[in-house]
Amino acid sequence: MKLSAPAKVNLSLRLLGKRADGYHDLESLMAPLSICDTVEINLEPGADNFSLTCSDLTVPGDASNLALVAAREFAAVTGVSPGGHIHLEKRIPHGAGLGGGSSNAAAVIRGLNTLTDLRLPWKKLEEIAARVGSDVPFFIRGGAAWVRGRGERIDPCDLPQQFFLVLIKPPFGVSTAWAYSAWENAKHCENPPLATTFGGVHWMNDLEASVFRKFLLLPVLVQWLNEQPETRIARMSGSGSTVFAVCPTSADAESLGSRAAAYLGGTFQIFIASTISRQ
Ligand code: C5P
Repeated sequence: MKLSAPAKVNLSLRLLGKRADGYHDLESLMAPLSICDTVEINLEPGADNFSLTCSDLTVPGDASNLALVAAREFAAVTGVSPGGHIHLEKRIPHGAGLGGGSSNAAAVIRGLNTLTDLRLPWKKLEEIAARVGSDVPFFIRGGAAWVRGRGERIDPCDLPQQFFLVLIKPPFGVSTAWAYSAWENAKHCENPPLATTFGGVHWMNDLEASVFRKFLLLPVLVQWLNEQPETRIARMSGSGSTVFAVCPTSADAESLGSRAAAYLGGTFQIFIASTISRQ
């Protein structure tokens, strides 16, 4: 079975405060993107665990890979332990704030639900997903959603319009846990970031200021994007390191993407993508 596992972008990400369990309560408007990995699941009769291969050799393929964690949590919650092989065909960069690993994990949960014929409801699948990671429940249903709690409360919504993006992934990642702790340490001495409105959305990211203070290339990239005529909004996605520009049309995104590739050279990954709505 082959499943498509899209990347995500945070159109808006507000942190509301630290919780007793160490996580942060958040409120985020998230949308899936047209950049997708492919997750292939093949069941083997009699097997009760999964092996994993991945087209990107820099992705850890051991038991810590979220695709395998997802298979284990599926078995732990349902009591049904299928086994076999999972192959990840990667196009989404990792450590990028684009949710690639989380999306792969959600695809495994959806795939196993179908392959085992358990037909669990969305809520149950989201509950399994939350055990794997905070960003995983968002990817279960597909489509844009308001995400709350630590990431487990999903309210599907329609975006006011489709958005066309140019994404730039620098040759380094940012650890999500580090980004949250940097926000925690700096929040008392920082002004809240300004929201900027485009297309009926308030684009903002509370994690930006503290991540930009350490990863100095990122504000330079955002400034460059803001100077380009096609850019309406320039922001970081999630905890970084990807920054993106929102453009009015797909043609604008194509022209900005080509200029960014020519300007930045080969060490940056540049993607053109659009938000996708529920199938
Ligand atoms: O849930 P996940 O393992 O993806 O989270 C990675 C790290 O990001 C957590 O260990 C935590 O430090 C931080 N985090 C958080 N609040 C959230 C989501 C993640 O503090 N809502």
